[in-house]
Amino acid sequence: MTDAELRNMVSKTLTCRIDKRDNCSEKMDQFLKRCFYHSGQYDSEENFAQLDKKLKKHEGGRVSNRLFYLSIPPNIFVEAVKCASSSASSGNGWTRVIVEKPFGRDSESSAVLTKSLKQYLTEDQIFRIDHYLGKELVENLSVLRFANLIFEPLWTRQYIRNVQIIFSEDFGTEGRGGYFDNYGIIRDIMQNHLLQILALFAMETPVSLDAEDIRNEKVKVLRSMRPLRLEDVVIGQYKSHSKGGVTYPSYTDDKTVPKDSLTPTFAAAALFIDNARWDGVPFLMKAGKALHNKGAEIRVQFRHVPGNLYNRNFGTDLDRATNELVIRVQPDEAIFLKINNKVPGLGMRLDRSNLNLHYAARYSKEIPDAYERLLLDAIEGERRLFIRSDELDAAWALFTPVLKELEEKKIIPESYPYGSRGPVGAHYLAARYNVRWGDLDIEQ
Ligand code: BG6
Repeated sequence: MTDAELRNMVSKTLTCRIDKRDNCSEKMDQFLKRCFYHSGQYDSEENFAQLDKKLKKHEGGRVSNRLFYLSIPPNIFVEAVKCASSSASSGNGWTRVIVEKPFGRDSESSAVLTKSLKQYLTEDQIFRIDHYLGKELVENLSVLRFANLIFEPLWTRQYIRNVQIIFSEDFGTEGRGGYFDNYGIIRDIMQNHLLQILALFAMETPVSLDAEDIRNEKVKVLRSMRPLRLEDVVIGQYKSHSKGGVTYPSYTDDKTVPKDSLTPTFAAAALFIDNARWDGVPFLMKAGKALHNKGAEIRVQFRHVPGNLYNRNFGTDLDRATNELVIRVQPDEAIFLKINNKVPGLGMRLDRSNLNLHYAARYSKEIPDAYERLLLDAIEGERRLFIRSDELDAAWALFTPVLKELEEKKIIPESYPYGSRGPVGAHYLAARYNVRWGDLDIEQ
């Protein structure tokens, strides 16, 4: 690629977020003029030395910082970091490296990766991205909890019956099977994105908003959790399905996936936090590809109102009458609080209605992409939204035993049709803990 081709490519997705809109095109031009393309081998010290030379020329002797973003397969992380750190580090400013999952496949391989990276970098230089932490509503979780009097007092086992963290995609692995088959949905989504949401949701109040204080609390809550047990997991894999004259493929129809693959494309799990705040509260996670809808949400189901004067108005289904807080991370960001309300009129009929904070209606601003926030944070040295190595260890400790067991026992995933709601086993798992999965489809 030439510099011009790179600039053209970048310009197509470049967004200007400065306040004075009229200066945007000038700013964007200035930015694009500073973009250069340089090619080389990941593992060549010589090529990195050439990059260094080129960078120095542009830096012109000013204090300059360097941020490497490793958008490369994990098996070459360490080689690239070695070359970057020894041959292309900044001489007078900081050097940082952004890495993105997979951070190994289990506790052991993750520890090896961390150790290898630390031969060349200090922990302070490593920015482990989990892009879910950059999503607007995930960042807002702490604001919701700690800047509002009404939520935090309820944030305990006394009032919360269960918490559900749900991710679904309405497309399969199409084209990414080569990567995916080695990892599966538990490693791809649960061990990182959903667990990070859980940690932010369930952690104690941090001492301050400082990155280390927040990450200390996240580690504490992760370390209070029980490792996931096989009987608390349901796995599934999508199968071909025809609908409206269109045939959707099976996971194993993907050319890059072995025909006999047992890799789960769906998983549901029940997790528990053994601390004073959350003892006995099931945290249910569900993640799947090729399902009937696309979205990510957190649902908090509250307990029944004790001695409710209005119980007889709800019939036999008291579960449907409990309060529920729904944080819709995507799409169409929103926060709903389901309350019981009197239907206006002379009689006394109750129904459940939403107190609704719908972002598109409330805020006219476009919501920045998660990566925009995270890249800016890495440049500014803000580590709050990046994963510290002890957090990563704690996360792997929860999932490694069950991942090993699934593989060793060659557990066969339950089939579900492409575009469906996933395996029925997920409902039995939830029912075991008296939980009914929520469904955002019915509450637009
Ligand atoms: C990635 C996973 O981390 O997140 C993908 O590897 C998944 O499998 C993606 O599709 C989902 O991200 P988003 O931001 O589109 O919800």
